[in-house]
Amino acid sequence: MPSKIVARRSQIHGNGVFAKEPIRKGERIVEYKGARRTHEEVDAGDTGDVDSGHTFLFTLNDEYVIDANLRGNIARWINHSCKPNCEAILHEDEGDDRRKDRVFIEAIRDIEPGEELSYNYGITLAEKHTKELKAIWACRCGAGNCTGTMLQPKKDKKKKKKGKKKKKKD
Ligand SMILES: C[S@@+](CC[C@H](N)C(=O)[O-])C[C@H]1O[C@@H](n2cnc3c(N)ncnc32)[C@H](O)[C@@H]1O
Ligand SMILES: [Zn+2]
Repeated sequence: MPSKIVARRSQIHGNGVFAKEPIRKGERIVEYKGARRTHEEVDAGDTGDVDSGHTFLFTLNDEYVIDANLRGNIARWINHSCKPNCEAILHEDEGDDRRKDRVFIEAIRDIEPGEELSYNYGITLAEKHTKELKAIWACRCGAGNCTGTMLQPKKDKKKKKKGKKKKKKD
């Protein structure tokens, strides 16, 4: 099936992903692809930029992270928004191999051609969300309800199985 999305420059940040065709609420748009790496591997390495908050990592589960720097697809360009039109849904494989879990980006409302796709990265850090950290993770989504940071309040733990981006060393 031809893709309904395209990557191009975004007003939010760098590259973003945009709808080429109407996308209906509930539609599974794209998988967040990339290499499976353990948290330990990622934390020990130099993936991501700790000072800017730039990351292509996505926390898959307690064992693995999806590293879209390696074998990533168009989904790695989707930006965060405080008023998203998509969500990241975790699909848990039935077997024991947690590397087989997958993340899909799905529409939470109808999306018109030309609209930028976004989801809430759901980032919470192990450490206190200080002013400095909130600034490193500053949000430029432009939504009326923008909190100014991509970091989520720690108490806002969602019960639903949703994926979340990983900050290096969280
Ligand atoms: C998976 S990348 C998304 C693609 C990114 N725009 C790029 O060109 O590399 C995630 C990174 O994009 C940036 N980003 C995404 N959404 C943002 C937002 N709402 N405000 C500011 N920066 C954002 C952050 O640096 C984040 O770590
Ligand atoms: Zn925002």
